[in-house]
Amino acid sequence: MSVHVQNTRMTTAKIRQMKQNGEKIAMLTSYDFTLASLVDEAGIDMLLVGDSASNVVCGNQYTLPITLDEMIFLTKGVVRAAQHALVVCDMPFGTYQISEEEAVRNAVRVMKESGCDAVKLEGGEEILPAIRHMVQAGVPVMGHLGLTPQSVNQFGGYGLRAKENAEADKLLHDAKLLDQAGCFSIVLEKIPAALAEKVTKAVSCPVIGIGAGNGTDGQVLVLHDMLGLNQGFKPKFLRHFAKMAEEVKSAVGDYVNAVKDASFPNAEESY
Ligand code: KIV
Repeated sequence: MSVHVQNTRMTTAKIRQMKQNGEKIAMLTSYDFTLASLVDEAGIDMLLVGDSASNVVCGNQYTLPITLDEMIFLTKGVVRAAQHALVVCDMPFGTYQISEEEAVRNAVRVMKESGCDAVKLEGGEEILPAIRHMVQAGVPVMGHLGLTPQSVNQFGGYGLRAKENAEADKLLHDAKLLDQAGCFSIVLEKIPAALAEKVTKAVSCPVIGIGAGNGTDGQVLVLHDMLGLNQGFKPKFLRHFAKMAEEVKSAVGDYVNAVKDASFPNAEESY
């Protein structure tokens, strides 16, 4: 007996086709069922359960401490919310660098336990064997080049990457290798716009930018940043599409006052 399921969900093939059609791709991070449901309903193409969860969900300074178990836990909620969007889960620091075998084992675990559609890995040539093994195992992989926050201790900060020719040349070379290895998409973070456009034209897979100008095939932002929830974080590339921190504080302030002056709950709000 065959089970026929009508599939209106995004696939990696549809994401690739969007580049061919010249259609821009919109991606946002998400870390929980409730917000992911709203983002999905609003028409996002891809939901990224980023390891930025380490910062915005867990309050860590860096992305490095978040674990595979924690990423799987968060991704399960986002997968349950996604009716349309493709769900990508970030492989955390230390889960794909040690050996190809361990990388594939961890990626397969993420796919099986969270139900996500793809995984994302930071790095170029140095992690190519891991990417090749994952792709051979049937795991769709999104690459990530430029500012790769898991390497913050090597970079010494979150500044613009690939300003100098040598680093720009390596980034272009790495992007071509990731494309040839079968990555279905590549994120470029915080690099000059001209370089991002050059890379986008040089590879066949879609390129998604963050702080990489408008010449890429799509854009990604951290949801909490673009909603204006993350107070005090306003790099040049970030646009606040809402002022949610103010909204939340005002609503909570109103609630606190209503509890204190005993106007909440009123008769209609009581049984
Ligand atoms: O973890 C994350 O949120 C990311 C995006 C910034 C691309 O990797």
